[in-house]
Amino acid sequence: MQLLLRVTLFWVLWWQWALCVDIGESQVNQVPLVPTRGPVPPTSKPPPPPDAVSRKKINVSGFPVYVYGVDELAPPVNGTVPEVAIVIYMHGRNKSAKMEDSLVRLLYSNIRQHMVADPAGSAKDVLIVSFDALNHGARTTDPIQRQSLSKNPRFLVDMYALVLNNRDMVSFLIDYLPAFLFPRDERLITGWIACGRSMGGHSTWHVLATEPRVRTGVVLIGMPDYNALIRQRTAQANLKAEAPVVPRSFAQLVNMTDPPMLPYTSTNPSKNPFWGKHIFQANGGADPLVPFSLSASFLSRLVLGAQGRKAKDSLEIFVQPQVPHQVTTEMLDLAGRWIYRWEIAKKPVNLLPAPSLPTPTHARPPAKFLTTHSP
Ligand SMILES: *[C@@H]1O[C@H](CO)[C@@H](O)[C@H](O)[C@H]1NC(C)=O
Ligand SMILES: *[C@@H]1O[C@H](CO)[C@@H](O)[C@H](O)[C@H]1NC(C)=O
Ligand SMILES: *[C@@H]1O[C@H](CO)[C@@H](O)[C@H](O)[C@H]1NC(C)=O
Ligand SMILES: *[C@@H]1O[C@H](CO)[C@@H](O)[C@H](O)[C@H]1NC(C)=O
Repeated sequence: MQLLLRVTLFWVLWWQWALCVDIGESQVNQVPLVPTRGPVPPTSKPPPPPDAVSRKKINVSGFPVYVYGVDELAPPVNGTVPEVAIVIYMHGRNKSAKMEDSLVRLLYSNIRQHMVADPAGSAKDVLIVSFDALNHGARTTDPIQRQSLSKNPRFLVDMYALVLNNRDMVSFLIDYLPAFLFPRDERLITGWIACGRSMGGHSTWHVLATEPRVRTGVVLIGMPDYNALIRQRTAQANLKAEAPVVPRSFAQLVNMTDPPMLPYTSTNPSKNPFWGKHIFQANGGADPLVPFSLSASFLSRLVLGAQGRKAKDSLEIFVQPQVPHQVTTEMLDLAGRWIYRWEIAKKPVNLLPAPSLPTPTHARPPAKFLTTHSP
């Protein structure tokens, strides 16, 4: 009897909340996202944020982060609130948390649409957190160190430094954010998801490789293999992958830390850092900056679990034809589904129909991507 009451209350709670969300979310702006290539005009201002989901800025021991969705958390009913899953989002090179505000809002609304469609189907509530990468946004100190290889011989070192710093900041946030968000233990955070675009997508792979508390990852127009990127960028610039562009000390660091250098093909759960995780990666099929070929070798060998249907479900790859270095609404739709499916929904998952896509997604890189660029 008591159980029945609780279930009913829970259902009412989600339903009420779903109605509120529905009104707010219809205002989300579906503007196309700005491509990364090309210089950022110094006078251009990021578009004003669409005013749907709430955004708060908090300083986590002095480290500023944006938190999306605090006001939208389900209110307590008789002292009970659902657990919370937090998505940590990392922006691309030359961008900032503020400049990718509309992308984060779209991602939020894409996760929420599944929660709204099936109010009793969610096991958890959701928040998204974003922050500025080292030497970006409010943390900018020296923009010259962000320049590409043609102007900045240390570019490959600089970018890797930002990728690994992002990785470290994600672990920092997982450690301290709960105490800042919920100082009275008002909510229990039981899920962490890493997500990022371009450079933030490379960082997502490093988070997945090192942070056991992150079980789900979404990589948008990024890649896991820095040695492949070193080969591509040095070849494009007609340079050799040697000092000072790639000092030996740096090559050694990459070889100790990059995902392909870890036991990512191991079937031993205690050795393979990716074991049991769920990963979605999307790339543009006509992306000259971070082509899917940089990822193909790694993704074709990556082991996420024991063979079988579950392991097959754990990786999803989407290479969208004719898309340059740009995140699309299709990629973000799939990202929202992925996060909902693995971190929010009750099992068994009752998903909305998949969006119509120009090309299907894959559990392994399609053969045509494996013929080129394999090391
Ligand atoms: C965070 O720090 C900034 C810079 O000192 C300050 O302006 C802002 O008010 C702080 N925010 C909060 C919520 O404390
Ligand atoms: C909270 O619990 C009390 C006692 O069990 C019950 O009478 C009340 O209806 C509940 N509140 C709501 C909002 O359902
Ligand atoms: C990033 O900014 C630097 C410095 O302003 C510039 O040289 C570089 O071309 C930019 N790169 C991209 C990918 O926008
Ligand atoms: C790093 O690994 C790559 C690929 O396996 C190899 O070619 C290179 O020699 C290694 N470099 C160092 C300094 O260990």
